[in-house]
Amino acid sequence: PETGCLSIIVLGASGDLAKKKTFPALYNLYRRGFLPSNEVYIFGYARTKISDDDLRNRIRGYFGEDASEHSEDVSKFLQLIKYVSGSYDTEDGFRLLDKEISEHEVSKNSAEGSSRRLFYLALPPSVYPPVCRMIRKCCMNRSDLGGWTRIVIEKPFGKDLESAEKLSAQIGELFEEPQLYRIDHYLGKELVQNLLVLRFANRFFLPLWNRDNIDNVQIVFREDFGTEGRGGYFDEYGIIRDIIQNHLLQVLCLVAMEKPVSLKPEHIRDEKVKVLQSVLPIKDEEVVLGQYEGYRDDPTVPDHSNTPTFATVVLRIHNERWEGVPFILKAGKALNSRKAEIRVQFKDVPGQKQGRNEFVIRLQPSEAMYMKLTVKQPGLEMSTVQSELDLSYKQRYQGVAIPEAYERLILDTIRGDQQHFVRRDELKAAWEIFTPLLHRIDDGEMKPLQYQPGSRGPVKADELLAKAGYVQTHGY
Ligand code: BG6
Repeated sequence: PETGCLSIIVLGASGDLAKKKTFPALYNLYRRGFLPSNEVYIFGYARTKISDDDLRNRIRGYFGEDASEHSEDVSKFLQLIKYVSGSYDTEDGFRLLDKEISEHEVSKNSAEGSSRRLFYLALPPSVYPPVCRMIRKCCMNRSDLGGWTRIVIEKPFGKDLESAEKLSAQIGELFEEPQLYRIDHYLGKELVQNLLVLRFANRFFLPLWNRDNIDNVQIVFREDFGTEGRGGYFDEYGIIRDIIQNHLLQVLCLVAMEKPVSLKPEHIRDEKVKVLQSVLPIKDEEVVLGQYEGYRDDPTVPDHSNTPTFATVVLRIHNERWEGVPFILKAGKALNSRKAEIRVQFKDVPGQKQGRNEFVIRLQPSEAMYMKLTVKQPGLEMSTVQSELDLSYKQRYQGVAIPEAYERLILDTIRGDQQHFVRRDELKAAWEIFTPLLHRIDDGEMKPLQYQPGSRGPVKADELLAKAGYVQTHGY
């Protein structure tokens, strides 16, 4: 483990992401003992002119009711936080920030240069380039005695291939790839992290995980609420950029990739890139777009918005393992439930009418894996019925708290483990898949179908599923 004092700098400290995710995750890491108070200091940076205590009080407010039970811990945690105000594109603020960080390092007797500086950009991507320039210019850890400077950023990384590449190039001029941590928080979810273990450590799956046995794979994200105050952001991006091009595609990579040479982050990411590079161009007839009725009533959404809030897209991977197997990615807002799951449907057993084997990995809510299979109906008669082998985490792992994705990912950034972060070439390959389709939607050449909020989405999407080979199974 690395030692030396650690400064965590949250830029955009008064924004939504910091409030909902970054500070709560830092607090949880602190409570679990991963941020020892004799080493760590947290700096909030933003434009607003407020005092340290103002920021601390705000953060206390973010934690809500839960934290009142641990008010002593919360108070100790808050004492680790200092606020610095400044703009995102001029040197003054960043020089001041650097001075504060250096003072903290000196006060902790950190050996010159062994300190660690983690910059978390909880900011809109438009300011990533100036902020990265300022960090590079004013705030780098200034020695090679084992210390480091790392940058954490989060999507949207551009809007299409060209803009993403431009952003990558701008940031890439300032920081090396090992210093950059591109967060996709789906990679921090327990059952996503479980995928490689599941696939490569179980004889059950090894010989079956291919086109000979698997008929189709679905990766599904549903939310039972609409854009809720985020209409302005969302309308610029839409469901494909918000969920499918990143979260669901990352999951697809882990489901489809070959076994990596080793568990080293680079070997794993190499295999993920190969999957993305093998995806064939998307066909118009394998896309269904939707927009929920009432979406345009949001005052921040333009009256004639063509932005999809729902999409089903079939991807086809052109390689020996997956040729002919549709990967159906489906995501939607304002649907009938909140759920994210992977459904691997096996081919029919010849002559067997009861239903297919299906293996389901539920990422949320209530993490679970279950396998649908055919058994004899219990009783005197000889008939068959579909049933489930069920591993529900709450039951099986009672009392084990499953960490929040951001907690895990921030800890990885401190430890320097990039496995669960998106590499530049991965990002590029992901944009290559979706950019042609996105441009057609942006140009109004493809239009979303209206659907009722609280429904399953457009009926056409179910028809596309059936056409891709998915057969409704029974039971759960
Ligand atoms: C974010 C999207 O990346 O993921 C949101 O921008 C979405 O629109 C959220 O609501 C979903 O995350 P989770 O972890 O609740 O599934």
